[in-house]
Amino acid sequence: MSAVSLRDGVLHAEQVSLVEIAARFGTPCWVYSRQAIESALDEFLRELEGFDSLVCYAVKANSNLAVLNVLARRGAGFDIVSAGELSRALAAGADAQRIVFSGVGKTDEEMELALAAGILCFNVESAAELERLNAVAGRIGKTAAISLRVNPDVDARTHPYVSTGLKENKFGVAFDEARALYRRAKQLAHLEISGIDCHIGSQLLDPAPFSEALDKVLLLVDQLGEDGIVLHHIDLGGGLGIRYRDEEAPSVSEYLRPMLEKLRARGLRIVVEPGRRLVGNAGLLLTRVECLKPGEVKNFAIVDAAMNDLARPALYGSWHDIVPVVPRAGTPLVWDIVGPVCESGDFLGRGREIALETGDLLAILSAGAYGMSMSSNYNSRPRAAEVMVDGASAHLVRRRESVEELYALEQPLP
Ligand code: LLP
Repeated sequence: MSAVSLRDGVLHAEQVSLVEIAARFGTPCWVYSRQAIESALDEFLRELEGFDSLVCYAVKANSNLAVLNVLARRGAGFDIVSAGELSRALAAGADAQRIVFSGVGKTDEEMELALAAGILCFNVESAAELERLNAVAGRIGKTAAISLRVNPDVDARTHPYVSTGLKENKFGVAFDEARALYRRAKQLAHLEISGIDCHIGSQLLDPAPFSEALDKVLLLVDQLGEDGIVLHHIDLGGGLGIRYRDEEAPSVSEYLRPMLEKLRARGLRIVVEPGRRLVGNAGLLLTRVECLKPGEVKNFAIVDAAMNDLARPALYGSWHDIVPVVPRAGTPLVWDIVGPVCESGDFLGRGREIALETGDLLAILSAGAYGMSMSSNYNSRPRAAEVMVDGASAHLVRRRESVEELYALEQPLP
């Protein structure tokens, strides 16, 4: 994480020692850097300067209100996928006119809530959704601004679970059907065609597939022009990857510039939906070693964070760097860093060479995106606290759950 550094032998987030954070807020604990989030957003804003544009942060990456608020204050919009995310964004101070609504399974109720809030655009993913949205809008006397999410059938060359732009994926309207569907949308009384969008996958490390997808989408934009359908915006989706280990992630400029060149003469408003790139490297998961269990075949370091906190290693085999908060002298051993959850898949990192003692603090890096937002209460583990560091201050932005809260909604049979 860019905002982490060693000072006098202790790892700090901005100017705050992680030892202090652990003492004050306990572990496991998510730590975010405001500065890192803001500078990640600034990279996009700088690149888009001079274009009519909107950065819609993908709320699913990290939906803490403080994170959303930091971004909203700097003028970001939001890409949401549920009524829950809509409500969060609005609670965090989002401008509804900067919200786009993606997702393949929007319910009538979610459509109504988003229409009532006055969002910028629905990213429609199927013919059925188009008809449904028209009916819902008609029923409550509103007009829904729409964009069709086109599936360009481009290989994003990323993990299959987070690849979304191929024909075999459930996302978007098939490229060959999009033109007819726009014609249909034009006939529907309660819809207003606003734009076109595509999102081909996540953690992309090669800018080429983005450009390839854009070429296809622009082909469609031209065809729509021939049909008398004029679009106001183009939404390029999210997906720009980050460095977790030693990957060469493209700069925002390397990612956006080739596409902006293609768009310059078009006069379309440009929307982007980055998630991971804005928050991934701005967050870490702070954890404490509970117990060391050296063995014949493997050495296990059992920490107080687990797969219910950070699911990515268990789910995708993802790598997160794991570093000691106070690096100690001594011979490092090779450890599997695992949690207390009752599954062999409950690991946070495998084969890590670190000098460790029981009670040591570890920072699991690059955990700001799809960390807390994908966490669960598996094994009845309360979700960890979230802290945002801002310069020399650390603020609790979500308190740790209590065990009682975990079953507060349940009751035994009468
Ligand atoms: N727009 C849409 C329509 C999306 O579905 C997503 C992410 C984004 C934007 C933001 O993508 P990003 O810029 O963050 O790559 N849980 C997985 C990632 C799932 C991504 C889902 N969609 C992970 O931990 O790697």
